[in-house]
Amino acid sequence: MTHPSSESDLDDVFATGPLLHRAPSLQFPALEREPPEVYQLIHDELLLDGVARMNLATFCTTWNEPEVQQLMAESLDKNIIDKDEYPQTAELEARCVRMLADLFHCPAPTTTMGTSTTGSSEAAMLGGLAAKWRWKARRQAEGASTGSPNIVCGPVQVCWEKFARYFDVEIRQAPMNAENLLTPEQVLDACDENTIAVVVTFGQTFTGKFEDVAAISSALDDLQNRTGLDIPIHVDAASGGFVASFCAPDIVWDFRIPRVKSLNVSGHKTGLAPLGSGWALWREASDLPKELIFNVNYLGGQMPSFTLNFSRPGGQVVSSYYNFVRLGREGYGRVQAANYAVAKYLAQGLEDFGLFEMIFSGDPRKGIPAVTWKLADPNTPFNLFDLAEELKTRGWLVPAYTLPPNEQDVTVQRIIVRHGLSIDMADLLLSDFRSALKKLNSRPPSRSLLSDEGTSYNHDAVAAIPSL
Ligand SMILES: Cc1ncc(COP(=O)(O)O)c(C=O)c1O
Repeated sequence: MTHPSSESDLDDVFATGPLLHRAPSLQFPALEREPPEVYQLIHDELLLDGVARMNLATFCTTWNEPEVQQLMAESLDKNIIDKDEYPQTAELEARCVRMLADLFHCPAPTTTMGTSTTGSSEAAMLGGLAAKWRWKARRQAEGASTGSPNIVCGPVQVCWEKFARYFDVEIRQAPMNAENLLTPEQVLDACDENTIAVVVTFGQTFTGKFEDVAAISSALDDLQNRTGLDIPIHVDAASGGFVASFCAPDIVWDFRIPRVKSLNVSGHKTGLAPLGSGWALWREASDLPKELIFNVNYLGGQMPSFTLNFSRPGGQVVSSYYNFVRLGREGYGRVQAANYAVAKYLAQGLEDFGLFEMIFSGDPRKGIPAVTWKLADPNTPFNLFDLAEELKTRGWLVPAYTLPPNEQDVTVQRIIVRHGLSIDMADLLLSDFRSALKKLNSRPPSRSLLSDEGTSYNHDAVAAIPSL
């Protein structure tokens, strides 16, 4: 029999220390505590967070191989910015940039500029800033004013609204149309001599659809021929870049289009890296203005820095390199194809309920592995927010939200199919949808019953949904 090495080893973790009290929350704690007690306290609180893999709202990685977890743990103390101190982590970052430059068809992949970031928001801002500086230099050379830069885009992720506000750029956001996609006509209507870039989203946040980079680029070619205005494109490929490159390689959206001067991708979304990973890339080194590159020598050696953050963890880059080498084009293709298959399965299952109109069903040629839908009948006695609440009782997070202007009256619901959502889990999810729909059908939320007059909604159809 082994004996406890100290008196405190005898104590039950729940019968002593912090677990006998409410958790500190208002003042900085005065005393030290034993690590296992504090661990238990925090571990238990985090039970309330739910299960990340059942969060079908997020685009971000929620499943990692054990090797990734190990490399993350081994990199815990490495700061990516200390390139002199951790030269091999820096080398892995440089290799990743070259690999991505190759994947996204940079004309000179070995000399192009690119960097890891904390995610697509930071990468998007770097792309936007470079566009602003290039535009400013050109305008100054022409002796023209540089007072009112603008970006032109469709319904973008909030990072572009942040970019516009934080960096004093007007955002000209084309409203949502019935197709939910930015059109060349909308772009041409909004562009002028102060447009620093058109932002095209390749894997739209609201629906998952790809905007047509090639069509928008050729409209801008026409504009240039007619007016001389040469407006670059930044592609926000946060979630589309790491799927189309493998599953629909003939869609031309990246540096194959000369007008695309920069792009961002999220390592931590379809790139399959753990949270905290993004990438910004420029077509050619000259597309990243020198003014944005800072050289510092106080960490040893001369180091160029062109990110918004300075210190950042190194593990995300190390894990990205692991994924690129581990999976290659073949493996990424298989993982993403499996995700598309699950998206298709879910889309079919949802359509079979007969209640939903599909907006996007995860077609690899049209968007990312995602499914988006709305209620087919506006008289349905419950809405998609009610359905989302009902699914939450089983642990699923399937968000309902309204579309941006001009489609703000349309409520949609969306599932992002990520690495780790198997057909088996999709089946369980559909079964929970079925139960939720039956419950909402037999006991609709009372506010809806008040306005039930003249409904064409078919209660019998829901009642007839077979059980699993
Ligand atoms: C199209 C698009 N761009 C940018 C972002 C922001 O990316 P991150 O969360 O990596 O900062 C997202 C996030 O969902 C997105 O969907």
